Amino acid sequence: MTTIRSGSMGTHEHRTALVTGATGAIGEAIARQLAGRPGYEVVLVCRDEAKAENAVQGIRTKTGNDSVHFELADMSCQSSIRSLADRWSKPVDVLVNNAAVTPQRRQETAEGIELQFATNVMGYFWMTEAFTPQLRQCSHARVVNVASNWAGGLDIDDLEFKRRPYDSGLAYRQSKQANRMLTVAFADKLQSHGISVNACHPGEVNSKLSNNLGFGGHESPDQGARTPVWLATDRVGQSSTGRYFECLRESQCRFSKDRRAIQQLYEACSRYS
Ligand SMILES: NC(=O)c1ccc[n+]([C@@H]2O[C@H](COP(=O)([O-])OP(=O)(O)OC[C@H]3O[C@@H](n4cnc5c(N)ncnc54)[C@H](OP(=O)(O)O)[C@@H]3O)[C@@H](O)[C@H]2O)c1
Repeated sequence: MTTIRSGSMGTHEHRTALVTGATGAIGEAIARQLAGRPGYEVVLVCRDEAKAENAVQGIRTKTGNDSVHFELADMSCQSSIRSLADRWSKPVDVLVNNAAVTPQRRQETAEGIELQFATNVMGYFWMTEAFTPQLRQCSHARVVNVASNWAGGLDIDDLEFKRRPYDSGLAYRQSKQANRMLTVAFADKLQSHGISVNACHPGEVNSKLSNNLGFGGHESPDQGARTPVWLATDRVGQSSTGRYFECLRESQCRFSKDRRAIQQLYEACSRYS
């Protein structure tokens, strides 16, 4: 929360939210639902300019909120994320890490990192690190990590599938386990700055990603956006930190107990920074 502004929607607190992967099914719905709330300036962090323009225009039209913009950045690329953070000096109240991919074959980024790990894990990690100064400028900033209940199989010694045969589904499950573990690590790290960090499962939503993974999904993007938006806006997303949520409810996370493994993963990811 940065300023108090009085506008056509009345007096309200002004908040700035960044949403990654906001040209995708769930990300667009998260951005649109946030933009529909009074006082929210929403920035869609996207890699494709034409799609981003289209999404911004659609959200402005549907919500009547002109404070919706986009920024271009590649979530699989640390230098791109650094450049975005370097040109961003304003406070950030809410960061929603949501962008993800599920490539069928093992590929590496221009920075030489396996693509799914780079995007789904390091993208969240680098964004949270790079935007910590801007999050710290707010009194109660929040980071919401869109993870999944379909998670597991993490091999700390083979995060990039250099030893194991690459399997898209396993690489995805590993990345979502890592999202949930790193949520705990960042919650600990950022608590003293008043920043809460929580993870959630959005539901089973029909999207490019879910179709790539072969399960389709029976829920709408708007249903999928409910829990992330709730964590970004409800009191619970501020009073809780390091927690995992499904369907607007806290859920036990089997990956949050092993503090040693969480620290090992955090240190392994730090070596990519
Ligand atoms: N769908 C489900 O049922 C489900 C279930 C559990 C968890 N989730 C989680 O929900 C989140 C959103 O998934 P979704 O189903 O909405 O998938 P989606 O429709 O495929 O959207 C993925 C988004 O990520 C963006 N993205 C991918 N790589 C990027 C990169 N290198 N740089 C910048 N943006 C990039 C895509 O951009 P482009 O538009 O340019 O491709 C797209 O906007 C993911 O974290 C996923 O793990 C989804």
